[in-house]
Amino acid sequence: MFRFQVLVVVILGFCQLSVEAKKNVEQKKQTYIIHMAKFEMPVSFEDHAHWYDSSLKSVSKSAEMLYTYSNVIHGFSTRLTAKEAQILENRPGILSVLPEMKYELHTTRTPSFLGLDQNANLFPESDSVSEVVVGVLDTGVWPESKSFDDTGFGPIPSSWKGECESGTNFTSSNCNRKLIGARFFSRGYEAALGPVDATKESRSPRDDDGHGTHTSSTAAGSIVSDANLLGYAAGTARGMAARARVAVYKVCWLGGCFSSDILAAMDKAIYDNVNVLSLSLGGSMSDYYRDSVAIGAFAAMEKGIFVSCSAGNAGPSSDSLSNVAPWITTVGAGTLDRDFPAYVSLGNGQNYSGVSLYRGDSLPGKLLPFIYAGNASNATSGNLCMTGTLNPEKVSGKIVLCERGVNPRVQKGYVVKEAGGIGMVLTNTAANGEELVADAHLLPATAVGQKRGDAIKDYLLSNQNATATIFFEGTKLGIEPSPVVSAFSSRGPNSITPGVLKPDMIAPGVNILAGWSGAVGPTGLATDKRRVGFNIISGTSMSCPHVSGLAALLKAAHPDWSPAAIRSALMTTAYTAYKDGNMIQDVATGKPSTPFDHGAGHVDPVSALNPGLVYDLTVEDHLNFLCALNYTAQQINSLARRNFSCDSSKQYSLNDLNYPSFAVSIQSQMGSTNEVKHTRTLTNVGSPGMYKVSVSTTSASVKISVEPATLTFSQTNEKKSYTVTFSTTSKASKTNVFGRIVWSDGKHSVGSPVAISWT
Ligand SMILES: *[C@@H]1O[C@H](CO)[C@@H](O)[C@H](O)[C@H]1NC(C)=O
Ligand SMILES: *[C@@H]1O[C@H](CO)[C@@H](O)[C@H](O)[C@H]1NC(C)=O
Ligand SMILES: *[C@@H]1O[C@H](CO)[C@@H](O)[C@H](O)[C@H]1NC(C)=O
Ligand SMILES: *[C@@H]1O[C@H](CO)[C@@H](O)[C@H](O)[C@H]1NC(C)=O
Ligand SMILES: *[C@@H]1O[C@H](CO)[C@@H](O)[C@H](O)[C@H]1NC(C)=O
Ligand SMILES: *[C@@H]1O[C@H](CO)[C@@H](O)[C@H](O)[C@H]1NC(C)=O
Ligand SMILES: *[C@@H]1O[C@H](CO)[C@@H](O)[C@H](O)[C@H]1NC(C)=O
Repeated sequence: MFRFQVLVVVILGFCQLSVEAKKNVEQKKQTYIIHMAKFEMPVSFEDHAHWYDSSLKSVSKSAEMLYTYSNVIHGFSTRLTAKEAQILENRPGILSVLPEMKYELHTTRTPSFLGLDQNANLFPESDSVSEVVVGVLDTGVWPESKSFDDTGFGPIPSSWKGECESGTNFTSSNCNRKLIGARFFSRGYEAALGPVDATKESRSPRDDDGHGTHTSSTAAGSIVSDANLLGYAAGTARGMAARARVAVYKVCWLGGCFSSDILAAMDKAIYDNVNVLSLSLGGSMSDYYRDSVAIGAFAAMEKGIFVSCSAGNAGPSSDSLSNVAPWITTVGAGTLDRDFPAYVSLGNGQNYSGVSLYRGDSLPGKLLPFIYAGNASNATSGNLCMTGTLNPEKVSGKIVLCERGVNPRVQKGYVVKEAGGIGMVLTNTAANGEELVADAHLLPATAVGQKRGDAIKDYLLSNQNATATIFFEGTKLGIEPSPVVSAFSSRGPNSITPGVLKPDMIAPGVNILAGWSGAVGPTGLATDKRRVGFNIISGTSMSCPHVSGLAALLKAAHPDWSPAAIRSALMTTAYTAYKDGNMIQDVATGKPSTPFDHGAGHVDPVSALNPGLVYDLTVEDHLNFLCALNYTAQQINSLARRNFSCDSSKQYSLNDLNYPSFAVSIQSQMGSTNEVKHTRTLTNVGSPGMYKVSVSTTSASVKISVEPATLTFSQTNEKKSYTVTFSTTSKASKTNVFGRIVWSDGKHSVGSPVAISWT
């Protein structure tokens, strides 16, 4: 009876709630981004701002614009109820009304690993690099970081129109000749989540997180000698384009990065005259005309701005990419040849290698009591060392083995420390395999891969009185093989447009040293009171700004190159094999990686300076691509801000997008041969020469033939086309086939990856 009553009360309560909820949903406002067909503006309006305002006021008298956009889209953002949004969508001149989306961050030895130090004389003069501006959309900047020292920098480029905005703990004097612009965009964020709490985060371009200082200094930080994190990775730190200028656009806050703010930042960055845009963030995958980053990047591409984005940290699952539009350069992550070894020594005499950035009092060299977290907790996931789950009586004075997953790695260490533990061994599970990411733990700790972790666990569980200790070995260089594709790096195929191979390439993204915010410690935990000038972190967030900085160098060397030409140079010269000829490995499988993991391969900036040939793309090529996707005129016009219609008499084909890679989809019918043709056009950016093609594949089930097999260029900027025919053979299979098409004149190698899947 009692139970029954309870049930009735709950049901009644629920009914009331749902009526309330319905009312709330109807009245609840959220941010929408409204794309207007500016070309349809009635002549009766003085200017577009009046027209936008009148359209908005026609559905909501009280609504105010958050932003008016003029460079990335024609339109504005505002707060509306769902009903108002629906009414607005049907008004004349409205192309689309899109709900705002939330994006997330994809969270000094690199220059020499990339061969930049040894070949400094090949790179453009610093005068031309200093004309290039790299814009970074992120968590802002810590302007006091040595990476933004402007000693020796000349006057700011005359084309620069940006600003240094002031706010909490940030004034215009925080900018200089290195950090030439700093803006912040919080209207969308504050409209959604309420005013910024200035005691928790700075309502200004100041970086309270560290991520933005790290990415912007990676792309274009000044040269800083004696940089290190707590003694680790000591050496000279420098951004990829150390002489380029930096402009930061803070769009990410404690509560995330909101698309109305991102779009406003890209709008301003285009106006300000940046040359490169770097975005280490991503959202859920959607069609290009709904994705603010893709929309903003399209406008940037038209202005000749190179846009580089992180591929995402959702690997090693396939289909896990972000930022896949073909006018964006999508960057995955690989490792460096540097490591931070820290060994676990067990009571049974066995040693297991791991990695750590712990600095502080070491453990005594003798063996210490060792316990599995799962045996020191009553919680169901006690093995994960979540806050408040460890029993102090069980872990006090012991080293604790915790497993990776759910809560941050560094937080697990803090939980052990709080419970009285004296050290931690952090083991990977199947989700991370053998991938090791080093952390500046708050107590003596080391991370080990899954296999070693399993062996250590076996020992722990079969020994009542298990013991262990940890030895820290500092920084070790010359690790082989390197690079390897990191497990977290997001993988293809491209779920939005399978016909465009993504990621485009990989660049260093594991254990990267770069500038850090003075507002937080290296772990980013509130309990971490340490402050460091540099920090070591990992993610495709870190690989993206490497490519942004390299693009700035290429832009300085070749000011007339389009963003597509710059990307082509980086892709066709990327490498896929080690010096010994073996394919770059995937740390997730321990096997050779494929183009779905590494795209065209690992960047090789020295070769990219002089690629010989490039695959160029014009704005019209991109519009034709949108036609090939069968986008409606309305969708195309909201994305590309123009009155464009596809030509119904024309055949548009995704296979002919002049991309430096091939994603081929082919039918596998037994008994019949099927073929698919792709056409490409090469532009000679080197000296005259004769190029011959060579083709390789991983399987005989597809035959690749190229026609013509020789291309002769007699002058610079000459264009030549060729057609590739992919045909099935009797061995047609269901497994992906990979290959490579390389044009060579003996001096240059212009390589394209091929990924073939079956329909
Ligand atoms: C937009 O393009 C269409 C198709 O080409 C044309 O019919 C229409 O007049 C154009 N609209 C404006 C306002 O130019
Ligand atoms: C601003 O600076 C002051 C003084 O350094 C500091 O106490 C305060 O926490 C800072 N505020 C923010 C939001 O960073
Ligand atoms: C493990 O490492 C310790 C300390 O470096 C060393 O003394 C010992 O010999 C090693 N044991 C094995 C089995 O390699
Ligand atoms: C520790 O936990 C494992 C299972 O996770 C169990 O088999 C073992 O008996 C436990 N050991 C102790 C000492 O409680
Ligand atoms: C776990 O359970 C044991 C035995 O039931 C109890 O003595 C102990 O207090 C519990 N520990 C925690 C942390 O809840
Ligand atoms: C573990 O240690 C306890 C206390 O020192 C001792 O009584 C016990 O015999 C030991 N067990 C084993 C298997 O060595
Ligand atoms: C576009 O439509 C054409 C004709 O219906 C079709 O053959 C083609 O596969 C479509 N393309 C895409 C990318 O959906």
